[in-house]
Amino acid sequence: MELYQIERLERFKKEITRFMLMYEFALNEMKTKIEILKEEFRLLHDYNPIEHTSSRLKSPKSILKKIQRKGGDFTFDSISKNVKDIAGIRITCPFISDIYRINDMLQKQRDVKVLEIKDYIKKPKSNGYRSLHLLIEIPVFMSDREEQITVEIQIRTIAMDFWASLEHTIYYKYNASVPSHLLGELRDAADSATALDKKMERIHNEIEVIKGEQIENIEEEVTQLVINNQNFQLPAALFELINSDEK
Ligand code: GTP
Ligand code: MG
Repeated sequence: MELYQIERLERFKKEITRFMLMYEFALNEMKTKIEILKEEFRLLHDYNPIEHTSSRLKSPKSILKKIQRKGGDFTFDSISKNVKDIAGIRITCPFISDIYRINDMLQKQRDVKVLEIKDYIKKPKSNGYRSLHLLIEIPVFMSDREEQITVEIQIRTIAMDFWASLEHTIYYKYNASVPSHLLGELRDAADSATALDKKMERIHNEIEVIKGEQIENIEEEVTQLVINNQNFQLPAALFELINSDEK
């Protein structure tokens, strides 16, 4: 490579890095939002509607492939308008109801602007794929500017995730031409996953009712306060206060 070429490549690399970084920052912001919801639920509601979260940045190679497929220009402006999944987050929940709860909580946040919702749970794809997809925009603040960055959020249950990762593997193995009997079996498997989701949710709801009826053995727990692995014993004065309140 000639020196001028190296210099041009380095300048280009810097621009790509700057572009990708904004998406990385947007991902970090969303991850923090999700982390806060998770902690709040754990500490205040003693329940976790989020089983697992993962995130990824689309590689420059896949970004180029997608912009080519969409027939857009090779400019940063055109890429950010056409490729909406450069920043992607996947949230896995225990139950279907949790998906809509998380969806509501995210949508209510003032700095989150919802661009698009695809509900592949109410309307599964023909292959059986189920998930709730959100395209949102959040502001990212840098030293000299503010930008609205798009993030794709996929929310699904563990069963839906299990199915999707397997389907993805099979799809890749057969290079997109999956034998038709397998397509049928995959759809059946998707229905089984849905049946399992529904059954687990019913069991969960029943357990919640039973839990609400049991109030023994919680006295010890109730006098303790745990925040981020720090254990606090609630002061005795507090109990006196509660006792005097009662009277
Ligand atoms: P893309 O151009 O692929 O991003 O599709 P789209 O713009 O129509 O978006 P859509 O919301 O339908 O899907 C986006 C993402 O959802 C994909 O990149 C996958 O991660 C996931 N997804 C969608 N359909 C399927 C599917 O049939 N199987 C699996 N395993 N994943 C899927
Ligand atoms: Mg995609």
